[in-house]
Amino acid sequence: MKKILVTGANGQLGKCLKDLKNRYPEFEWTFTTKGELDISNMSSIRHYFERNSFDYVINTAAFTDVEGSETQKEKAFSVNAEGIKELAIAVANSNGCLIHISTDYVFDGEKESPYKENDGVNPLNVYGASKLAGEKYIEEYCSKHYILRTSWLYSQYGHNFFLSVLKWANEGRDMSITTEQIGSPTNANDLAEALVTVIKGDKEEYGIYHFSNEGKGTWFDFASEILRLNGQLDEVNLAKTDHYRTFAKRPKYSVLDNSKIQETFQIRALNWKASLKKLITTLKNNK
Ligand SMILES: NC(=O)c1ccc[n+]([C@@H]2O[C@H](COP(=O)([O-])OP(=O)(O)OC[C@H]3O[C@@H](n4cnc5c(N)ncnc54)[C@H](OP(=O)(O)O)[C@@H]3O)[C@@H](O)[C@H]2O)c1
Repeated sequence: MKKILVTGANGQLGKCLKDLKNRYPEFEWTFTTKGELDISNMSSIRHYFERNSFDYVINTAAFTDVEGSETQKEKAFSVNAEGIKELAIAVANSNGCLIHISTDYVFDGEKESPYKENDGVNPLNVYGASKLAGEKYIEEYCSKHYILRTSWLYSQYGHNFFLSVLKWANEGRDMSITTEQIGSPTNANDLAEALVTVIKGDKEEYGIYHFSNEGKGTWFDFASEILRLNGQLDEVNLAKTDHYRTFAKRPKYSVLDNSKIQETFQIRALNWKASLKKLITTLKNNK
């Protein structure tokens, strides 16, 4: 029976993976929170891997505060880069495979067609730079690895744009949402499924892969679709803005090309609107 460790288990992707656990009883699953395995703490990692080994380690743990990373550069690098280096070494020493999640923010957004895995990287913000440094460490220290870059993650869990829009709508707040970036909102439940499919594939085709929901839109498009599908579009005062001020620069275009993961693992990502509809329907049915 293959043993899988999921780090960062209290995050949104960690929780989506936990939801899949019972559907895949052929794997022995272990989930660790930051309290149980702090990936920015060298001795925590060493101690843990001296006692445990896994066939696959899915690292969902990260410092994901894009704005906060601009002022907490050390923290971003300590978790997203130096911590990843130690994790990569520990996983390699135990002959495991590290599956890591990275981001569309490794790109600068100057391209006008979907980014492929081998397109040039040039992060515009500290978060993107720290995630890119993490990717490099994995490539250097853990030959058995999959790095899945994804974009604009949302789900029923944690803090994300989808839940924020629903909350603002329920509070009756006016919304002014940016049209300055184009990307692909990605349902973390779909990403979790894709990660399991990679493991089930057992192909040893290591490297970087892109996975996001198909299609593209702006944050304004994403907000409108959330409200439309939730039957609240007419109740909310929703406006476009093209000068939304943030600390962190973001790529103006960061659509990812999924063809490599599709061809290698036969993973077909849903269109983002279809996937959003699926989640909203599930949440309504579970009320
Ligand atoms: N969210 C997005 O839009 C997006 C887009 C592209 C890529 N990604 C990547 O996708 C992955 C999953 O993201 P997510 O949205 O699920 O993030 P998330 O909800 O912020 O979850 C990250 C988890 O990691 C934990 N964590 C932070 N520092 C840690 C440490 N030192 N040791 C162990 N755990 C630690 C956090 O715990 P605390 O909350 O207690 O700190 C949190 O539970 C990340 O690698 C992220 O960079 C995310």
